[in-house]
Amino acid sequence: MSTNSADQRMIPLPLATHHTASRSATTCEYRCGNACAHDAPNTSANTYFGDIVRRALDRRGVLRAGAVLSLTAGVAAATGIPAAARGKKHGHTPAPAGIDFDPVPPNTRDGVVIPEGYDQEVVIRWGDPVLPGAPEFDFDNQSEAAQQAQFGYNNDFAGLVPLDNAGIHSLLVVNHEYTSETYMFSGYDPQNPTEEQVRIAWAAHGLTVLQVKRDPARGGLVPLPGRYSRRITANTEFAARGPAAGSELLRTSADPEGTSIAGTIANCAGGVTPWGTILSGEENFHQYFAHADQVNDPVAKQRMQRYGINTGSSTRKWERFDQRWDASAEPNETNRFGWVVEIDPNDPNSTPVKHTALGRFKHEGATVRVAEDGHVVVYMGDDERFEYIYKFVSSGRVKNGRSSHARRHNMSLLDEGTLYVARFSGNSPESEIDGSGELPSDGEFDGAGEWLPLATGDTSHVPGFTAEEVYVFTRLAADEVAPTKMDRPEDIEPNPVNGRVYGALTNNSNRGAPEHAPADEPNPRAENKHGHVLELAEKSDDPTATKMAWRLLLVCGDPQQGDTYFGGFDKDQVSPISCPDNVAFDRHGNLWIATDGNGLGSHDGLFAVPVDGPARGHVKQFLTVPSGAETCGPIITDELVTVCVQHPGENGSGAENPGSHWPDGGRAHPRPSLVAVWRTDGHHVGEIGKR
Ligand code: FEO
Ligand code: CA
Ligand code: CA
Repeated sequence: MSTNSADQRMIPLPLATHHTASRSATTCEYRCGNACAHDAPNTSANTYFGDIVRRALDRRGVLRAGAVLSLTAGVAAATGIPAAARGKKHGHTPAPAGIDFDPVPPNTRDGVVIPEGYDQEVVIRWGDPVLPGAPEFDFDNQSEAAQQAQFGYNNDFAGLVPLDNAGIHSLLVVNHEYTSETYMFSGYDPQNPTEEQVRIAWAAHGLTVLQVKRDPARGGLVPLPGRYSRRITANTEFAARGPAAGSELLRTSADPEGTSIAGTIANCAGGVTPWGTILSGEENFHQYFAHADQVNDPVAKQRMQRYGINTGSSTRKWERFDQRWDASAEPNETNRFGWVVEIDPNDPNSTPVKHTALGRFKHEGATVRVAEDGHVVVYMGDDERFEYIYKFVSSGRVKNGRSSHARRHNMSLLDEGTLYVARFSGNSPESEIDGSGELPSDGEFDGAGEWLPLATGDTSHVPGFTAEEVYVFTRLAADEVAPTKMDRPEDIEPNPVNGRVYGALTNNSNRGAPEHAPADEPNPRAENKHGHVLELAEKSDDPTATKMAWRLLLVCGDPQQGDTYFGGFDKDQVSPISCPDNVAFDRHGNLWIATDGNGLGSHDGLFAVPVDGPARGHVKQFLTVPSGAETCGPIITDELVTVCVQHPGENGSGAENPGSHWPDGGRAHPRPSLVAVWRTDGHHVGEIGKR
């Protein structure tokens, strides 16, 4: 393996079994507003499959309950999920195309550690120029004007939209999820930020759009600031669209029409649409607001509690410089965040959109596929402990072709459709799901599921909720239909090769704790430190269907422990993996997983795993990221792999003493950056001898 920080030695680590996830206090505060330190806001009564059966019995009698149970057996057969390999395999299985590389062992090196035979280069760092003429980064002389023209902070999702058929020129779109002021500014006083520091932070949020060129000779990606360059920030104008646009619930003193929203924040994961735009999820928006405890209207206050809107002053004190961040002064402003936004990178003058039809929650991301009949399906996770998985199916159908008419039509498809939330049931007896993580006697955590409709266009399917209320207060509407509380649903993404859908569930230390939902078959481990990966197959491979089968592909953690599962693959041969977050696929359909908060003592990393064939479950680590960092936003192509390295060095004590000096080395301040990795011999990633 190799690294760009060769002065530090590789230290293979003993694997601990009971570590907690390893995020630093700074990362927890600035990224999620310490969400895990508070009680999860989902205090609704629906808990697990046993409850659902009891409800079915109460409402509809024994026959209905029987119907729910028999579905469990029936859908698995109908959806064509292949049976898992039972027991351990012997000997070494040849690596399938796409993952033929020597895995990187767990380590704590302060660099990006990659397999032997690969090279790497930083593509762009926090502060590098994005707009033509932007100043070079100067840590000690930052300004709002400079940051508005430079690459933002804490890159998360990244997407590439091709500009040519040769794969040379592309548009790179990157989310800037959050700012870490104590590392961004020397001498930062968290109690008294200056107005300029706050304005720099507004400019460091949002997204970057930038043309990049692949260098076939060298292998990396070269930024080309030019006519596509764009910075979207916490103050860029967005248009609210869809059924809740213009709702009274979205109206504020600055926007009495409820249709024009300033800015996007907390942009976590996302996806590239088939029509060449980018979807991006507004995730931990709750922490940016202040004083939810001083809201007078009890209904508004209760709704804010369900979203965990901050009480007291906010971490960053933005409310001192723009009153809209004070929830007690402008309560509806809180309703204008927590959406999926769509950006058209081809047109730097376009007004980006907030899609109300996709519901409002802590959106990890949103990924799209087109059903055979042309309907568009969007998969989404609400990333908080005990929250839900959602999908949206458009009312309209995709128009083929690249005409401006087709493009305009396709960009309206997310304006109207049906929003669903997922309920999963297991097929093993409850007595065999004891929270230990041990497999039940049928050899798998698996079962059936259904998508429960919440609203279609202007029609609500939830008694007591108007359609607008379903979209704006989606969490509360979903609570009414008893979906399954999951262990932090992150990326949910369809596999373009096998058609199944894969979802990362990062962790949930409160699973099974007193007063919380117990372990169930889709979330089978109490005090779930290392997370798991869910695999869905929709009935008859129709993504517009409301019935599905599911099973767990991975139960992450130390492979030597009995509470882990690697798709039935021999656990002696796999890389340890902990806290899955972002998922992506290569051209062969292998699943690539980025991790957030490795609880096994190693740095976070990027992993690849086949999902079909004899190597199903053979997890291999492709890279690790520097100290304090999280691996985000993987892009996997034949020619290269890119990851966003988020919050490097946040395991230190601030700008004066960071925990990392990556990527510039020496005594440099760490800078969140996007890194490209490629084969030094010019062959395809993970393929022997293929060009
Ligand atoms: Fe921003 Fe769910 O990670
Ligand atoms: Ca089972
Ligand atoms: Ca994430």
